Amino acid sequence: MEAFYKKSHWENIYQNKPLETVSWYQPDPETSLKFIDQLDLPKSAKIIDVGGGDSFLVDYLLELGYEDITVLDISHTAIERAKAGLGSKADKVQWITTDILDFRPTEQYDFWHDRAAFHLQKTTRKGCLL
Ligand SMILES: C[S@@+](CC[C@H](N)C(=O)[O-])C[C@H]1O[C@@H](n2cnc3c(N)ncnc32)[C@H](O)[C@@H]1O
Repeated sequence: MEAFYKKSHWENIYQNKPLETVSWYQPDPETSLKFIDQLDLPKSAKIIDVGGGDSFLVDYLLELGYEDITVLDISHTAIERAKAGLGSKADKVQWITTDILDFRPTEQYDFWHDRAAFHLQKTTRKGCLL
């Protein structure tokens, strides 16, 4: 069985596979955006995308005017790819490279987003997940 929870697994994918070739590629994150729209969050809401990879959600959120976005991922390469895709707009985002199981937030988030990341976690590795 592949160790989906391992950093090396994800670094290998992001170093070797172009964005459009991964099975979870989604140029338009419409379901996530629909949820966020329904929540009617203020543009100042603190939003975190856990296991965000190099998805386009952050691009759309910036475009919609959200001001306080954090993207967290275990893969440094994924974070660098996401930053590169955003160009100078990347400076408006907080980027965190860590395993979510090691993440100890120092602030509260209004909205925590995860698409296709948590279901991959091996919850027995460090006990219960969160
Ligand atoms: C299937 S991809 C989905 C990426 C993105 N959410 C999307 O919708 O395109 C899973 C993502 O979760 C990240 N990931 C996997 N395990 C993780 C962990 N333990 N902590 C943080 N990120 C993790 C991977 O690096 C990868 O970017």
